[in-house]
Amino acid sequence: MKKLLLFAAAGLCCAAGANAQDINLPEPQTTGGMPLMEAIAARRTVRAYSERPLAPQTVADLLWSAWGISSADGKRTVPTARNQQDIDVYAVMADGTYLYDAKNNLLKQVTTEDLRPLLAKQDFVSSAPLHLLFVSANKKYGGMHAGSMYQNVGLACTSMGLANVVRGMIDNEQLKQKLNLPEEEEVIISQTIGYPAE
Ligand SMILES: Cc1cc2nc3c(=O)[nH]c(=O)nc-3n(C[C@H](O)[C@H](O)[C@H](O)COP(=O)(O)O)c2cc1C
Repeated sequence: MKKLLLFAAAGLCCAAGANAQDINLPEPQTTGGMPLMEAIAARRTVRAYSERPLAPQTVADLLWSAWGISSADGKRTVPTARNQQDIDVYAVMADGTYLYDAKNNLLKQVTTEDLRPLLAKQDFVSSAPLHLLFVSANKKYGGMHAGSMYQNVGLACTSMGLANVVRGMIDNEQLKQKLNLPEEEEVIISQTIGYPAE
């Protein structure tokens, strides 16, 4: 609820076309940041997180870097085999879990349940405010697509002074049930994001 209130207070909730419980994101900022080669050099896995919440703009920018639309013909920030775009990104936060809808630039609420315990197989994870889940039915290429996405996000985090860790140590089956995924879809991997611990 805290995070939802943060978005609502910023006047970002409930625009036309979105359900009341969905979150309209600010337009992603797609310029600036650290020079790419410096971000590649500085990228590192971090395993100690502050509870400090992320601003809506930061969440929007990270989601865009993972799976945003970056050209007028609908192509994305990462490549997919035959441009099938058969992957989804979910944002797990304290007040619920949301499906990223890049076309409408919003987070569609999937559940209000706090799913973070299903991710917290390592103690440091529980203090982080945001976790991304990469979900696909593509057995051949889904992992590759997820890898492109978490690398984009990892570099964006580095550029923004945020910490992140890619995590396979999650309860994939429970998450699949809670997200009500169809049989063929799998939660491939997760990525934990937040400010580094002081
Ligand atoms: C597919 C994948 C799964 C990973 N799973 C975990 C995990 O469950 N827990 C964890 O603490 N780190 C995990 N990591 C992070 C790696 O341990 C980390 O990338 C590696 O130690 C190298 O460190 P670096 O990212 O700082 O270069 C994972 C990384 C990848 C790419």
